[in-house]
Parts: sequence; structure tokens; C-alpha cells
Amino acid sequence: MIAPAEEAAPLDELRVVLGNPAAVKAIENSTVPFPDGAILVKLAYKRKQSPDFETATIPDQATTVQVMVKDSRRYASTGGWGYGRFINGQPADLAQHQTCFACHEARVKSRDYVFTHFAA
Ligand code: HEC
Repeated sequence: MIAPAEEAAPLDELRVVLGNPAAVKAIENSTVPFPDGAILVKLAYKRKQSPDFETATIPDQATTVQVMVKDSRRYASTGGWGYGRFINGQPADLAQHQTCFACHEARVKSRDYVFTHFAA
């Protein structure tokens, strides 16, 4: 686990970003670009108030699983990252994948297109 994240309304989501060992090591050492074989996964859930403790926020139903896989040759046109999105275990519409790189490129190109890092 690299870090959790939260998205305000209207999405109202809790997220957790996971990395395989290659990705975690690159983040630990601030290595950019990430090595081929690095994988980052974002799990997203609706968020809701805990029924057990009023100020606590807990995950509700799962919404999407998003994946970035580093393969600098195969995905050269999108910064070396292949993007994938799954809803209910099924790959989501490929046309949507164009939006992935656009946003990551606009905001965090200097960090090899990766937003998430360890807590400061
Ligand atoms: C409008 C901006 C935007 C778009 C579009 C977008 N992302 Fe992201 N992505 C983010 C932000 C911001 C984060 C940081 C975590 C968070 O806040 O949820 C993130 C995090 C991620 C992560 C975890 C690694 C990292 O960079 O932190 C993955 C994997 C990911 N996104 C995949 C995708 C995929 C796949 C798509 C397309 C289906 C996509 N993203 C589209 C903004 C975007």
C-alpha cells in the first residue's frame, strides 16, 4: 500500500493505491522513470459514514479498479504506461483510456505521470 486518497462530491470516493515491489521500490528511492514491470493499482469505493462511529468514514460499494503498467516499448505513446480500468471485474470501454494519460500528463509528467507518493 502506497497511500490512501479521498475524492470529494460528487464522486464521494475513498481510494487506496497499491504497488507491486518494483513500483514501491521506485517510489521509496524517488526513481523516475519507473522501471519496466512496475504496476500501480487504484481501488475506489463509494464512501459513507460509519454506522458504528459517527465521525468515521468507511468504504461503501466498490466502484472502479484502475491500473497502470510500465512497459516503455509497448506503451511508448503514453509515456511508457499502459492504462486499464475495470468495473465489476470487466474491462471498461477502451475509448475512456485516452482520458487517463491526458490527465496524468497534464498534472504529474515530471514524476513519470504518477500522482501518489508516500505520506510526507
Ligand atoms: C481528471 C484526472 C484523472 C484522470 C482522467 C485519470 N486519473 Fe488516475 N489519478 C488521478 C489522481 C488525482 C490520482 C491520485 C489518487 C487519487 O486522488 O485518487 C490518480 C491515481 C491513479 C493511479 C495510482 C497511481 C498514481 O498516479 O497515483 C492509477 C493506477 C490511475 N490513476 C489510473 C488511471 C486510469 C487507468 C485512468 C483512466 C481510466 C485514470 N487514472 C484517469 C487523476 C486522474
